[in-house]
Amino acid sequence: MSDFDLVIRGGTVVNAAEISKCEVGIKEGRIVALGEMLGPGKQEIDATGKFVMPGGIDSHCHIDQRSSGGGRNAETFLSGTRSAACGGTTTIICFAAQEKGELLTPIVEDYHERAKESCIDYSFHLIISDPSDQVMNDEVPKLIDQGHRSLKIFMTYPRNRLNDAEILKVLETAKRKQALVCVHAENHDAIMYMTEKLLAAENNSTKFHAWAKPPLVEREAVHRVIMLSELLDVPIQIFHVSCEEAAEEIRRAQQRGLKIFSETCPQYFVLTERDLDRDQREGAKFVCSPAPRTEGDQEAVWDHVRLGTIGNVTSDHAPYNIDELEGKFWAGDNAPFSQIANGVPGLETRMPITFSEGVVKGRIDLQTFVAITSTNAARLFGLYPKKGTISVGADADICIWDAEKDVTITQDILHHDTDYTPFEGLQVTGWPFITISRGKIVWENGDVRCEAGWGKFLARDPYDYIEPRGILPTPFDPVVLTTNKK
Ligand code: URP
Ligand code: ZN
Ligand code: ZN
Repeated sequence: MSDFDLVIRGGTVVNAAEISKCEVGIKEGRIVALGEMLGPGKQEIDATGKFVMPGGIDSHCHIDQRSSGGGRNAETFLSGTRSAACGGTTTIICFAAQEKGELLTPIVEDYHERAKESCIDYSFHLIISDPSDQVMNDEVPKLIDQGHRSLKIFMTYPRNRLNDAEILKVLETAKRKQALVCVHAENHDAIMYMTEKLLAAENNSTKFHAWAKPPLVEREAVHRVIMLSELLDVPIQIFHVSCEEAAEEIRRAQQRGLKIFSETCPQYFVLTERDLDRDQREGAKFVCSPAPRTEGDQEAVWDHVRLGTIGNVTSDHAPYNIDELEGKFWAGDNAPFSQIANGVPGLETRMPITFSEGVVKGRIDLQTFVAITSTNAARLFGLYPKKGTISVGADADICIWDAEKDVTITQDILHHDTDYTPFEGLQVTGWPFITISRGKIVWENGDVRCEAGWGKFLARDPYDYIEPRGILPTPFDPVVLTTNKK
């Protein structure tokens, strides 16, 4: 008789808080024992020489989503989650995206329908592009109650951007309903102005994508949204921090005690603005927002990961095919930089690049790697301790990591449905050996064992981590006491 469905022996268990040599016993999709000399399992894995870590949590990825600019997403929920699983990730948080003039509920229902084919667990951020009274007062509170406990807003992109008054409205609802607001922070008018001027001077090529949106447009928007969040005393998460200037704004706010959280992405570890300076077809592969920066910014971003300013690494997987009419070149082969779809694919390469550039190159330790690729996202988005930890009672979402494996990243080894990788030719050390989703092996050393529909929607209840501080800039509380007089 077996005591467990699955036992992992011989590995080193790495959690964000501690490292231990122990066996892991799994039953009915959960971790039920950690210890020595565990009884037999129906299935056993020899993890000798490997790290046994919580499965990755990618809390920012666009899957089967309508684009913010133009073009059509290359990935389905099946291909996207398969690719994530092959890269060691066992949970994703993607988006249900509203556009201006639309109601949100039917959109969310539609995303749920399409996400049913996911092969790992998933949750949604709600993209609010039109915070009308109906949307914010009727729809969003109900959707949050159903477990969509994070909202995403854009400060740029014509179809999605919110002005400051609209941002305040979203922050207010988030505070009332205990949800977290995630922000794409770039100054829209400055980008539009620069774009117009660049194009008028016939500076059309992809290189000018970076010129249209330099670090200061990110810095200003980060500063502004921090101010808005401070005004209401509501925590926020700043998405895809790409440069020193933005990270410093966040650091300053954190040092003043504000609950400002932030993420970065592998593209800001390894790509630079020089990658955009190629012919249009090649350069388009690196068009994403914020734009890739400099080597100096890469090191600054790492500094802020070490300091804790930046708490998690996400892929911002935003896949558009090069060779597809509705892909990167939806506006035509000769489209200027401003009409090339924004975003790069990266679900599968997120953990390997972060491990290789981070742990192998001595920039971070193993536990920090686990924290920034899994545990911190679980805490921030209300999934902990079900996700993000190897602990008794947690879901058996596990990544067994081969820290010695040398891999050259090329398009043909990846499992996404996008027709390129921006990381082509990048050499990394460290790759997932086995990925386990709720006790089921979904990836084993080159063998894809994903099953469409295995993934479950993760409804997220209220949680303490994003409690406001209780400190307001004036004696008047604009959110809780709406009719008070001072
Ligand atoms: O370039 C990017 N990141 N595209 C995806 C949408 C967004 O900006 O997050
Ligand atoms: Zn964004
Ligand atoms: Zn994004």
